[in-house]
Amino acid sequence: MKVLVVGGGGREHALCWKIAQSKKVSKIYCAPGNGGTKEIAENIDIGAEDIDGLLDFALKEKIDLTVVGPEAPLVMGIVDRFEEKGLKIFGVNKEAAQLEGSKAYAKAFMEKYNIPTAQYRRYTDKEEAIKALDDFNYPLVIKADGLCAGKGVVICHTKEEGIDVVNYMMADRAFGSAGERIIIEEFLEGIEMSLLCFVSKGKIIPMESAKDYKQIFEKDEGPNTGGVGCFSPNNLFNKELENRIGEEILSRIETGLVKENIDYSGVLFIGLMITKDGPKVLEFNVRFGDPETEVLMPRLKSDIMDIFEKTMDGSLTKEDLVWSEKKCLTVVATSKGYPGAYEKGKEITGLDLLDDDIILFHNGTIEKEGRLYTNGGRVISVTALGSTLEEAREKIYKNINRIRFDGIYFRRDIGKIKNN
Ligand code: AMP
Ligand code: GLY
Repeated sequence: MKVLVVGGGGREHALCWKIAQSKKVSKIYCAPGNGGTKEIAENIDIGAEDIDGLLDFALKEKIDLTVVGPEAPLVMGIVDRFEEKGLKIFGVNKEAAQLEGSKAYAKAFMEKYNIPTAQYRRYTDKEEAIKALDDFNYPLVIKADGLCAGKGVVICHTKEEGIDVVNYMMADRAFGSAGERIIIEEFLEGIEMSLLCFVSKGKIIPMESAKDYKQIFEKDEGPNTGGVGCFSPNNLFNKELENRIGEEILSRIETGLVKENIDYSGVLFIGLMITKDGPKVLEFNVRFGDPETEVLMPRLKSDIMDIFEKTMDGSLTKEDLVWSEKKCLTVVATSKGYPGAYEKGKEITGLDLLDDDIILFHNGTIEKEGRLYTNGGRVISVTALGSTLEEAREKIYKNINRIRFDGIYFRRDIGKIKNN
């Protein structure tokens, strides 16, 4: 089979890596890909949001299956467009993608189906939103409604900060139309957990759990990022919590999908806060997570192509997902300045010095004339399996120091947080 993977980050590299292990696959293309995908796939110079370009390519090359990484093309309706032309594509359709594309839509869905989440209100009028800042306890959370590349959520500790954020989103239109509607919600205290699930024609089959590190600095300080470290499984996820999530969250989502007539096939990534009152949903994503995928793919023993096919035809069962008992950890090396402004184009060296049991996933790299350069805020994910988290940690931190580029930064406490 010929497979096209859409996207160019660490998630897509991990997907290409896993797809390449399938005996069913003869050729992988990645659009646009990166310096890492280039080693196992043919990179195609078409952007992930250029749906016309991707469609033309898939038709011309007779692609058997397209797998979509990022949310933006899903929200734009890439799946509907491919299916109209009779092409097979793994990902959710435009209607289902609203669960990530609009936070107001997702919150209304959660409210309607009694899915535990933070108390919230939505606003389309700036003055009304500012007035409402008196009615909440602090800290509170302000979220732009639409997609903002992970930057549309701000935690505010005072009313003054809240006013600034409302103005920034609604008057200055920092996120364009994505900020025309905002959500103000209660701040939830607890421990975060990522639960990615395959959804096979409305039936939810969870993958193994993961723990994502969002903040750029050690001890979870500093601004939020897309995720700079991750491990799986998340040891917070015991049988009791699994049952509770199943009953209070997953089965209610399944009911909601049926009642709303949403034809959901693909991945649902549930961002959870485990609070003292139980698990609550922070957000839905309609795609694989990044860096969650980098720690899940190495633990997945099953053929991912079988999983994609079964998910799409509605026959996937829990037994189809076979996981290694090993723990997997990844640490993301980032460019100086990330998640703020950063420079690209720094030469990366030392990758040839890494031990054989290190799995490298490239997030933002580009290869030019045999040399590798940084090409993003998140640059490279150094990943390892181990019988224990500590063993995986030791392997990673022994190796990551061998990688060099100007301004390299990474957290040294990934996998070491005391409650995990
Ligand atoms: P979201 O994109 O909604 O997941 O928000 C990004 C991050 O902001 C989450 O991963 C949390 O770390 C944080 N966050 C979002 N909503 C809340 C909330 N209600 N309470 C506490 N933290 C939150
Ligand atoms: N790691 C969080 C995300 O993929 O959104």
